[in-house]
Amino acid sequence: MSAAGVNRPESSAEGFGRALRDGLRSEPRGVAPKYFYDRQGSALFDRICELPEYYPTRTEFAILRQHAAEMAECIGPQAELIEFGAGSLQKIRLLLGALQRPARFVPVDISAEHLHAESQRLAAEHPGLLVLPLAGDFSADLALPPPAPGSARRVGFFPGSSIGNFAPADALLFLRRCAGWLAGGGLLVGVDLVKQPALLHAAYNDSLGVTAAFNLNLLARANRELGADFDLSAFHHHAFYEPQHQRIEMHLVSAREQSAQVHGERFDFAEGQTLHTENSYKYTVAGFQALARTAGLLPQAVWTDPQRLFSVHWLGAPGA
Ligand code: AVI
Repeated sequence: MSAAGVNRPESSAEGFGRALRDGLRSEPRGVAPKYFYDRQGSALFDRICELPEYYPTRTEFAILRQHAAEMAECIGPQAELIEFGAGSLQKIRLLLGALQRPARFVPVDISAEHLHAESQRLAAEHPGLLVLPLAGDFSADLALPPPAPGSARRVGFFPGSSIGNFAPADALLFLRRCAGWLAGGGLLVGVDLVKQPALLHAAYNDSLGVTAAFNLNLLARANRELGADFDLSAFHHHAFYEPQHQRIEMHLVSAREQSAQVHGERFDFAEGQTLHTENSYKYTVAGFQALARTAGLLPQAVWTDPQRLFSVHWLGAPGA
């Protein structure tokens, strides 16, 4: 791993506290899903990815495994790879074996501790690979390091359909930024597809309750980090498919009339009142390609599984 190590972003507890209080003051109440991913939340998300009902991870793995050589062909030799929302770095391992002499790998993640540990593990497995972890928020403007010496082009890797956690307008903004960051290279991005609502419902309401624990961890995190006093037993997980916007919505629902304090400010909840914690948008292949074109990227290849549950897109980024 690079001697530069992890660049820690400014106090994330402070940012979380501000976002949560703002979100609780607004109507309807809501908070961005990026705050799920503290250490416990990241570990819970890793467990979600292994659940039988949560098809996106294993389906995307199968697509990457099957088409890694074609993807490597699109990426080309000596590319610098930047993975957005790198998490446990499982998916890049599938590509690394197929890539020709990658110049450097820059995993970007908001969860600094998790990122640091996983980057060290990856670097130990690939002694010839330069790994430069960057702790930061790719949904805000990100300061990328200067291009790696000897790199031919910059390529973004954004698997897992994390792009679905952005509202379409924010997804467009992110893709536009990618068109700038990756000019002359491209973006390989995983996108979950519109499908039967029953399959979607099961994926976000698993029988072991791991997704519920992941959702409730947001309140547990507030208690741990902000000294809040949410009663976790008095909120429940609610996830459903909203067909008009083609998205899963996740909420935390107050089971009774109650109040909680965050940083000394009191928030009252009526019975049934919700805190909206996540949207997970689903796309058609054509719909996502249209969004990419609007952002200035060029859809050049797309791979799906036989059931068309999930898609991986190669989008070229025109040079300056
Ligand atoms: C990270 N992201 C793509 C996941 C999703 O499916 O939207 C987060 C998740 N939320 C509940 N389960 C998984």
